[in-house]
Amino acid sequence: MCGIVGFVGTQADALPFIFDGLKRLEYRGYDSAGIALALPQGIAIQKSKGKISVLETVLGMLPPGPCGIGHTRWATHGRPTDQNAHPHTDCRGEIATVHNGIIENFEELRTELVALGHHFVSDTDTEVIPHLLEQYGGNQDLEAAVRKAETRLKGAYAFLAVSSLEPDKIVAVRRTSPLLIGLGQGENYLASDFSAFLSSTRRAVALENGDMAVVTPTHYQIWDQSGSSVDRSIIEIDWDIKQTERGGYAHFMLKEIMEQPEAWSDCLLGRLEGERVVVSELGLPVEVLNQTKRIQIVAAGTAYHAGLIGKALIERLVRIPVVVDVASEYRYQDPVLESGTLVIAVSQSGETADTLACVRMVKDMGGFTYAITNTVGSTLSRESDAVIYTHAGPEIAVASTKAYTTQILVFNLLAMALAEARGRGRPDLIQILRELPSLGHGVLERMDPVSEMAEKLARSRDVFYVGRGIDWALAMEGQLKLKEISYIHAEAYAAGELKHGTLALIEEGTPVVAIVTEPQLAEKTISNILEVKARGAEVWGIVADNMPGAFAMDHRISIPVRDPLVASVLAVIPLQLLAYWTAVARGEDVDQPRNLAKSVTVE
Ligand code: AGP
Repeated sequence: MCGIVGFVGTQADALPFIFDGLKRLEYRGYDSAGIALALPQGIAIQKSKGKISVLETVLGMLPPGPCGIGHTRWATHGRPTDQNAHPHTDCRGEIATVHNGIIENFEELRTELVALGHHFVSDTDTEVIPHLLEQYGGNQDLEAAVRKAETRLKGAYAFLAVSSLEPDKIVAVRRTSPLLIGLGQGENYLASDFSAFLSSTRRAVALENGDMAVVTPTHYQIWDQSGSSVDRSIIEIDWDIKQTERGGYAHFMLKEIMEQPEAWSDCLLGRLEGERVVVSELGLPVEVLNQTKRIQIVAAGTAYHAGLIGKALIERLVRIPVVVDVASEYRYQDPVLESGTLVIAVSQSGETADTLACVRMVKDMGGFTYAITNTVGSTLSRESDAVIYTHAGPEIAVASTKAYTTQILVFNLLAMALAEARGRGRPDLIQILRELPSLGHGVLERMDPVSEMAEKLARSRDVFYVGRGIDWALAMEGQLKLKEISYIHAEAYAAGELKHGTLALIEEGTPVVAIVTEPQLAEKTISNILEVKARGAEVWGIVADNMPGAFAMDHRISIPVRDPLVASVLAVIPLQLLAYWTAVARGEDVDQPRNLAKSVTVE
């Protein structure tokens, strides 16, 4: 997810406006940033790796101008470098573009354009856009070139284009990624979300999927994907500017929980075809995929919990052994690494010191390392032998949510690809993966009871989370979410293990959160729930729709389970929100909890 901003006016105000707009969109990505101005004498660009504050140090070299575009990047293709920063231009430096999203077919387009003589300077997917516009005569008629180029692009994206030959207009396209027009006086704006222009206008037009727009200082026109001119309604924005930086949510954590369905779509984009996984999109050499005999997963915290789900998926679908270790233990275990072992390192930040130490140790032992990370260009992505990105977009809150569920989706893809390679493919699960974003929206719409549950849980001293199989792994994630932001002591137990000691702690009113999504284990877990209830526990259940035995619970949240192997990303949503609302009820600092950091780059 990136932030894009455009300004077109009659006064030379583009640069300060765009810079301020990018600062307000920095939460959407902060790997690199840049600004391009369309001037009659050519395109003027300044861009740099690093945050907006780094870009600010070089903006003085830009001349004033009335028309320009800007970008703050969350890398998806190509590491965060000056060359890969947006805006990108055509060969002659007469057209500039900024882009948010993913161009799925960029490699074939790049090959075609290079064969036509175009010279590329970056390794991003985005750079195909300005060269395609140049190929289609964009320096004569930008609007016509955009219309023609857009028919060649595949993926989810929004982009802005300007030309020095027509320095009084911005051409914009929206296909899935958000894009709005802000309506000023004698000037108009474009942005990924309206926090970028809210200080200048509260009147906006939201482009719809497939729309193209041409925006000048005093006019704008919109065409839908059929090419028909359309009128989109003008909206009055009534948010305060501070709120909009979190997309209108009170906390980044809530925003990141709510945007999980979109993150799942981005994670799966281009990685499923028909009834199969697109193996070439996994970033793993085919021979490794075919010859892997066992898997060792190393990670920390929530990423470790995702690894536990990955173990269940791979062992059940592929029938090869999987071991999961916390990185801080594995690095000092003097482990035995058998041949044919694939070592998978999972890390949202790609900077966790313990996880990096494991990768370095395994490489010294001659092992093969595969990174699952959300951060392009991270140390982990550069030091591992292979990498796959979760495409969750920037995760600002310390408590990890969408990074965790997209890590699980990547494990789903890997397990299914490994299974297919061994003649054990599951086309039915592929179909369910496709349904997850819409199922996720459905679950998010049914979560009102969770905030009521949280009001009660907020007064607890200890909370126990129980489950069996995948539900036990979910219980571990649920307890970590609760304690790291609400500071309530919580622990997870395999439901069948309670009677071996922990049951002694259960007394009248002890809260127990039970997760029951695995039908074949439900009866056993329900009997464990009855054991704790017999000792006075108050039970909150996260259960599959129509799960028998749910009567045993005092409170219940049900979720749709098409198959327990692909339901964990849905089942974790109530656990995430239970932690969130409990911390809110206790007045804690949800996004930046005490003693913690977003990335633990030290031992
Ligand atoms: C999870 O909510 C925590 N923020 C923490 O456990 C985190 O998952 C852990 O530090 C690992 O971080 P990483 O994924 O960036 O390696």
